[in-house]
Amino acid sequence: MSPARYGGETIAAGHAAFRDLIEDDIEAVVRYWHDSGDDYLAFLGIDKVRLGSEDDTHARFRRALRTGDPDQRSMAFAITLDDTFVSYTLLNRYTPDSNFSHWHLTNPLARKTGISTALYPHRIAMYWAVCDMNRLPHQTRPRNVGVNRMLDKFVPIAETVWVENPDEIAGQGEFNHRHVARAEVHKLFETLSNLMDS
Ligand SMILES: CC(C)(COP(=O)(O)OP(=O)(O)OC[C@H]1O[C@@H](n2cnc3c(N)ncnc32)[C@H](O)[C@@H]1OP(=O)(O)O)[C@@H](O)C(=O)NCCC(=O)NCCS
Repeated sequence: MSPARYGGETIAAGHAAFRDLIEDDIEAVVRYWHDSGDDYLAFLGIDKVRLGSEDDTHARFRRALRTGDPDQRSMAFAITLDDTFVSYTLLNRYTPDSNFSHWHLTNPLARKTGISTALYPHRIAMYWAVCDMNRLPHQTRPRNVGVNRMLDKFVPIAETVWVENPDEIAGQGEFNHRHVARAEVHKLFETLSNLMDS
Protein backbone atom coordinates (compact mmCIF):
# COMPACT_ATOMS: atom_id res chain seq x y z
CA MET A 1 0.00 0.00 0.00
CA SER A 2 1.54 3.36 -0.97
CA PRO A 3 1.67 5.90 1.86
CA ALA A 4 -1.25 8.32 2.02
CA ARG A 5 -0.39 12.00 1.49
CA TYR A 6 -1.95 14.85 3.40
CA GLY A 7 -1.97 18.64 3.27
CA GLY A 8 0.99 20.94 2.98
CA GLU A 9 2.18 24.48 2.51
CA THR A 10 4.89 26.10 0.42
CA ILE A 11 7.40 28.08 2.48
CA ALA A 12 10.70 29.75 1.54
CA ALA A 13 12.60 26.50 2.22
CA GLY A 14 10.42 24.43 -0.14
CA HIS A 15 7.14 22.56 -0.16
CA ALA A 16 6.38 21.22 3.31
CA ALA A 17 3.89 18.36 3.56
CA PHE A 18 2.82 15.20 5.34
CA ARG A 19 2.60 11.57 4.34
CA ASP A 20 2.30 8.32 6.29
CA LEU A 21 5.59 7.27 7.89
CA ILE A 22 7.11 4.28 6.08
CA GLU A 23 9.53 1.57 7.20
CA ASP A 24 12.42 3.28 5.34
CA ASP A 25 11.98 6.45 7.48
CA ILE A 26 12.38 4.65 10.79
CA GLU A 27 16.20 4.49 10.80
CA ALA A 28 16.38 8.33 10.67
CA VAL A 29 14.04 8.48 13.66
CA VAL A 30 16.16 5.93 15.54
CA ARG A 31 19.35 7.92 14.75
CA TYR A 32 17.66 11.14 16.00
CA TRP A 33 16.77 9.59 19.33
CA HIS A 34 19.97 7.65 19.89
CA ASP A 35 22.64 9.94 18.35
CA SER A 36 21.50 13.39 19.50
CA GLY A 37 23.36 13.15 22.81
CA ASP A 38 22.52 13.33 26.50
CA ASP A 39 22.35 17.15 26.65
CA TYR A 40 19.71 17.20 23.93
CA LEU A 41 17.68 14.44 25.61
CA ALA A 42 17.95 16.31 28.94
CA PHE A 43 16.71 19.53 27.33
CA LEU A 44 13.71 17.68 25.92
CA GLY A 45 13.20 16.01 29.31
CA ILE A 46 13.38 12.47 27.99
CA ASP A 47 13.38 9.60 30.48
CA LYS A 48 16.15 7.35 29.14
CA VAL A 49 14.57 4.28 30.74
CA ARG A 50 11.36 4.96 28.86
CA LEU A 51 13.34 5.66 25.67
CA GLY A 52 15.01 2.24 25.90
CA SER A 53 17.24 0.75 23.23
CA GLU A 54 17.51 1.41 19.50
CA ASP A 55 15.52 -1.79 18.96
CA ASP A 56 12.80 -0.48 21.29
CA THR A 57 12.58 2.78 19.30
CA HIS A 58 12.48 0.85 16.04
CA ALA A 59 9.65 -1.35 17.38
CA ARG A 60 7.73 1.66 18.75
CA PHE A 61 7.68 3.33 15.32
CA ARG A 62 7.01 0.12 13.45
CA ARG A 63 3.87 -0.29 15.58
CA ALA A 64 2.86 3.26 14.56
CA LEU A 65 3.13 2.68 10.78
CA ARG A 66 -0.34 3.36 9.45
CA THR A 67 -2.46 0.27 8.94
CA GLY A 68 -5.59 2.08 7.73
CA ASP A 69 -7.44 1.15 10.93
CA PRO A 70 -9.05 4.33 12.32
CA ASP A 71 -8.77 2.78 15.80
CA GLN A 72 -4.97 2.32 15.60
CA ARG A 73 -3.64 3.50 18.98
CA SER A 74 -0.43 5.11 17.74
CA MET A 75 -0.01 6.64 14.28
CA ALA A 76 3.16 8.10 12.77
CA PHE A 77 3.46 10.57 9.90
CA ALA A 78 6.49 11.86 8.02
CA ILE A 79 7.05 15.56 7.47
CA THR A 80 8.70 16.23 4.14
CA LEU A 81 10.34 19.23 2.54
CA ASP A 82 10.31 18.94 -1.25
CA ASP A 83 9.55 15.24 -0.74
CA THR A 84 12.62 14.67 1.46
CA PHE A 85 11.99 13.29 4.96
CA VAL A 86 12.89 15.94 7.56
CA SER A 87 10.87 14.92 10.60
CA TYR A 88 7.95 13.05 12.04
CA THR A 89 4.86 13.48 14.13
CA LEU A 90 3.27 10.80 16.27
CA LEU A 91 -0.33 10.72 17.49
CA ASN A 92 -1.07 8.56 20.54
CA ARG A 93 -4.74 7.95 21.30
CA TYR A 94 -6.18 6.85 24.63
CA THR A 95 -9.75 8.17 25.06
CA PRO A 96 -11.88 10.63 23.03
CA ASP A 97 -10.55 13.51 25.18
CA SER A 98 -7.07 12.19 25.89
CA ASN A 99 -4.82 12.10 22.85
CA PHE A 100 -1.25 13.31 22.64
CA SER A 101 0.73 14.34 19.61
CA HIS A 102 4.50 14.61 19.33
CA TRP A 103 6.44 16.73 16.86
CA HIS A 104 10.15 16.43 16.16
CA LEU A 105 12.11 18.07 13.37
CA THR A 106 14.75 15.33 13.31
CA ASN A 107 16.82 17.20 10.70
CA PRO A 108 18.22 20.33 12.43
CA LEU A 109 18.42 22.11 9.05
CA ALA A 110 14.61 22.17 8.94
CA ARG A 111 14.32 24.01 12.27
CA LYS A 112 13.48 27.72 12.44
CA THR A 113 12.42 27.72 8.78
CA GLY A 114 8.79 28.38 9.69
CA ILE A 115 7.86 24.79 8.80
CA SER A 116 6.15 23.96 12.10
CA THR A 117 4.09 27.16 11.97
CA ALA A 118 3.10 26.66 8.32
CA LEU A 119 2.12 23.04 8.88
CA TYR A 120 0.32 23.44 12.20
CA PRO A 121 -3.29 23.73 10.83
CA HIS A 122 -2.56 20.97 8.25
CA ARG A 123 -1.20 18.79 11.06
CA ILE A 124 -4.34 19.19 13.18
CA ALA A 125 -6.63 18.68 10.16
CA MET A 126 -4.67 15.52 9.28
CA TYR A 127 -5.10 14.04 12.76
CA TRP A 128 -8.83 14.57 12.54
CA ALA A 129 -8.93 13.17 9.00
CA VAL A 130 -7.51 9.82 10.10
CA CYS A 131 -9.34 9.31 13.38
CA ASP A 132 -12.16 10.56 15.52
CA MET A 133 -11.30 12.50 18.68
CA ASN A 134 -13.17 15.04 20.79
CA ARG A 135 -10.17 16.98 21.89
CA LEU A 136 -6.43 17.08 21.34
CA PRO A 137 -4.31 18.35 24.22
CA HIS A 138 -0.78 19.68 23.61
CA GLN A 139 1.74 18.99 26.37
CA THR A 140 4.98 20.99 26.09
CA ARG A 141 7.82 21.89 28.47
CA PRO A 142 7.79 25.64 29.24
CA ARG A 143 11.60 25.79 28.67
CA ASN A 144 11.19 24.63 25.04
CA VAL A 145 10.82 28.17 23.69
CA GLY A 146 10.60 27.12 20.02
CA VAL A 147 7.59 24.82 20.29
CA ASN A 148 5.79 27.19 22.66
CA ARG A 149 6.35 30.19 20.39
CA MET A 150 4.97 28.21 17.49
CA LEU A 151 1.86 27.08 19.43
CA ASP A 152 1.31 30.57 20.93
CA LYS A 153 0.42 31.74 17.42
CA PHE A 154 -2.60 29.39 17.34
CA VAL A 155 -3.73 28.11 20.75
CA PRO A 156 -3.40 29.76 24.18
CA ILE A 157 -1.94 27.96 27.20
CA ALA A 158 -4.81 26.58 29.33
CA GLU A 159 -2.66 25.66 32.35
CA THR A 160 0.93 25.04 33.45
CA VAL A 161 1.06 22.06 35.78
CA TRP A 162 3.33 19.37 37.18
CA VAL A 163 2.76 16.06 35.39
CA GLU A 164 3.92 12.85 37.06
CA ASN A 165 3.40 10.60 34.06
CA PRO A 166 3.60 12.55 30.79
CA ASP A 167 2.94 10.87 27.47
CA GLU A 168 5.34 8.63 25.57
CA ILE A 169 9.00 8.77 26.65
CA ALA A 170 9.04 12.04 28.61
CA GLY A 171 9.98 12.19 32.27
CA GLN A 172 7.94 13.93 34.96
CA GLY A 173 8.03 17.71 35.12
CA GLU A 174 6.23 20.96 34.49
CA PHE A 175 4.21 21.21 31.29
CA ASN A 176 2.08 23.73 29.44
CA HIS A 177 -1.26 22.27 28.40
CA ARG A 178 -3.34 23.60 25.51
CA HIS A 179 -6.41 22.04 23.93
CA VAL A 180 -7.76 21.96 20.40
CA ALA A 181 -11.24 20.79 19.34
CA ARG A 182 -12.32 19.70 15.87
CA ALA A 183 -14.61 22.72 15.54
CA GLU A 184 -11.59 25.02 15.85
CA VAL A 185 -9.67 23.60 12.88
CA HIS A 186 -11.01 26.12 10.37
CA LYS A 187 -9.93 28.98 12.69
CA LEU A 188 -6.38 27.62 12.66
CA PHE A 189 -6.30 28.00 8.87
CA GLU A 190 -7.63 31.56 9.19
CA THR A 191 -4.86 32.33 11.68
CA LEU A 192 -2.25 30.85 9.34
CA SER A 193 -3.59 32.87 6.45
CA ASN A 194 -3.35 36.05 8.56
CA LEU A 195 0.21 35.14 9.59
CA MET A 196 1.23 34.52 5.98
CA ASP A 197 -0.28 37.86 4.89
CA SER A 198 1.39 39.89 7.64
C1 LIG B 1 10.85 23.30 18.56
C2 LIG B 1 10.35 23.12 17.14
C3 LIG B 1 9.05 22.30 17.17
C4 LIG B 1 10.05 24.49 16.54
O1 LIG B 1 9.64 24.32 15.22
P1 LIG B 1 10.23 25.26 14.05
O2 LIG B 1 9.70 24.74 12.77
O3 LIG B 1 11.68 25.32 14.22
O4 LIG B 1 9.49 26.61 14.42
P2 LIG B 1 9.13 27.78 13.40
O5 LIG B 1 10.25 27.93 12.42
O6 LIG B 1 7.75 27.58 12.88
O7 LIG B 1 9.18 29.06 14.37
C5 LIG B 1 8.16 29.44 15.28
C6 LIG B 1 8.69 30.56 16.16
O8 LIG B 1 9.53 29.98 17.17
C7 LIG B 1 10.84 30.55 17.08
N1 LIG B 1 11.79 29.46 17.39
C8 LIG B 1 11.89 28.26 16.79
N2 LIG B 1 12.85 27.55 17.39
C9 LIG B 1 13.33 28.31 18.39
C10 LIG B 1 14.34 28.12 19.38
N3 LIG B 1 15.04 26.98 19.43
N4 LIG B 1 14.57 29.11 20.26
C11 LIG B 1 13.87 30.28 20.22
N5 LIG B 1 12.89 30.52 19.31
C12 LIG B 1 12.65 29.54 18.41
C13 LIG B 1 10.98 31.03 15.66
O9 LIG B 1 11.97 32.02 15.57
C14 LIG B 1 9.58 31.58 15.43
O10 LIG B 1 9.48 32.79 16.11
P3 LIG B 1 8.53 34.00 15.73
O11 LIG B 1 7.48 33.97 16.80
O12 LIG B 1 9.39 35.19 15.79
O13 LIG B 1 7.97 33.74 14.37
C15 LIG B 1 11.40 22.40 16.24
O14 LIG B 1 12.56 23.16 16.21
C16 LIG B 1 11.74 20.99 16.70
O15 LIG B 1 11.10 20.04 16.29
N6 LIG B 1 12.76 20.86 17.56
C17 LIG B 1 13.23 19.59 18.03
C18 LIG B 1 12.20 18.75 18.81
C19 LIG B 1 11.29 19.51 19.72
O16 LIG B 1 11.68 20.35 20.52
N7 LIG B 1 10.00 19.13 19.61
C20 LIG B 1 8.94 19.66 20.44
C21 LIG B 1 8.78 18.78 21.61
S1 LIG B 1 7.32 19.21 22.53
